Amino acid sequence: MKMKVLVVGGGGREHAICTQVAKSKKADKIYCAPGNAGIEQIAECVPIGAMEFDKLVAFAKEKAIDFCIVGMDDPLVGGLVDRMEEAGIKTFGPRANAAILEGSKAFSKDLMKKYNIPTAFYENFDSYDKAVEYLKTAKMPIVLKADGLALGKGVLICNTLEEALEGAKEIMLDQKFGSAGNKMVIEEFMTGREVSVLSFVDGKTIKIMTSAQDHKRAGDGDTGLNTGGMGTFSPSPFYTDEVDAFCKKYIYQPTVDAMAAEGREFKGVIFFGLMLTKDGPKVLEYNARFGDPEAQVVLPRLKNDILDVMEACVDGTLDKIDLQFEDNAAVCVILASDGYPVAYEKGKVIKGLDAFEGKDDYFCFHAGTKRAGDDILTNGGRVLGITAKGATLKEARANAYAATEWVDFDGKYMRHDIGKAIDEA
Ligand code: AMP
Ligand code: GLY
Repeated sequence: MKMKVLVVGGGGREHAICTQVAKSKKADKIYCAPGNAGIEQIAECVPIGAMEFDKLVAFAKEKAIDFCIVGMDDPLVGGLVDRMEEAGIKTFGPRANAAILEGSKAFSKDLMKKYNIPTAFYENFDSYDKAVEYLKTAKMPIVLKADGLALGKGVLICNTLEEALEGAKEIMLDQKFGSAGNKMVIEEFMTGREVSVLSFVDGKTIKIMTSAQDHKRAGDGDTGLNTGGMGTFSPSPFYTDEVDAFCKKYIYQPTVDAMAAEGREFKGVIFFGLMLTKDGPKVLEYNARFGDPEAQVVLPRLKNDILDVMEACVDGTLDKIDLQFEDNAAVCVILASDGYPVAYEKGKVIKGLDAFEGKDDYFCFHAGTKRAGDDILTNGGRVLGITAKGATLKEARANAYAATEWVDFDGKYMRHDIGKAIDEA
């Protein structure tokens, strides 16, 4: 059946999702709410925000949407999938009772403890005084995590007791991350390489996508502030067959089974943020959606029709899908506005976007952009994700960096060492 599809979100991840949906033999018409200036080249963008549930449901009914895809964490945790389903609209993504896997770090830590899924030692606190008492006896460095969603910024790594006490105050008393800080997880500091593994899940079956690695710090050499992600590469050469076998046995299926056992059947994407420690792989965090910019290197390598896979997740037939990725590599370099993630200007004209037309192995995913007449302007901290494929990671990296030169705007900022870690593999 040909389907009318609605994608909810408007960043680089949603551009990567829409690009795959546009390739699907099942896609008839694609809408994106709210979308951006890049998405609008392949989908009809509608000016409805991702948290405007009433408007989204009304729009989906009016247009007789056959399939809705929710890309972002906030609407998932807020229950948009539940609302769409109540209105009879088939929707890809976890319901609110399952999206809590990302929405509450205290929940996810307790789940891992109960089901023996490897993760850092921790305690949950809802009292600031108790947290302070605990910190005074704890070993440094230590990690503080606001319980709720905080745009990927609610994690503080503290080297001294003073830093930890200040951090606990910021999270719990000053509510720097809003109500996300009503509860706090205090966690053992771990060291090792990080890997992002995304998976499709249908409630009982899980299929793992190709691995990726993000670069969260703003500056070269992993310096500067944490950001939403400055670039990615896929696959990760550190994600070996041995690591994969361990995670399949002790992490992936056990997580899906644990959610089912708790009466919180998970359908959609589970993103496993893993750390490869000397004691084996451990879960740093779960997300209930594609990572961004992980999606910008993983999805371009997907060989399946994305709507076949997503429908199978909703229908509970994922065991019938042979999930396949291209035997190559991809690198994504984020072009940001100078000053991100703190203060930056918007509204700069972006030049050179035409250079990507007709080049199958190059992608210019839009994140913070908007159209003004014939111009496309910067409209956020992360502006574009420049992705290129190559036969090897090194080739993909050279291609991606070459393509970053094709576009220009005032204040264009990027890291120059995305994927440098692969030289050590
Ligand atoms: P999260 O949002 O939980 O993935 O945390 C953001 C980043 O903080 C991770 O990508 C890690 O780099 C770091 N991090 C989180 N938890 C720990 C931990 N227990 N030990 C060391 N680093 C951590
Ligand atoms: N790139 C990390 C995330 O999407 O949370």
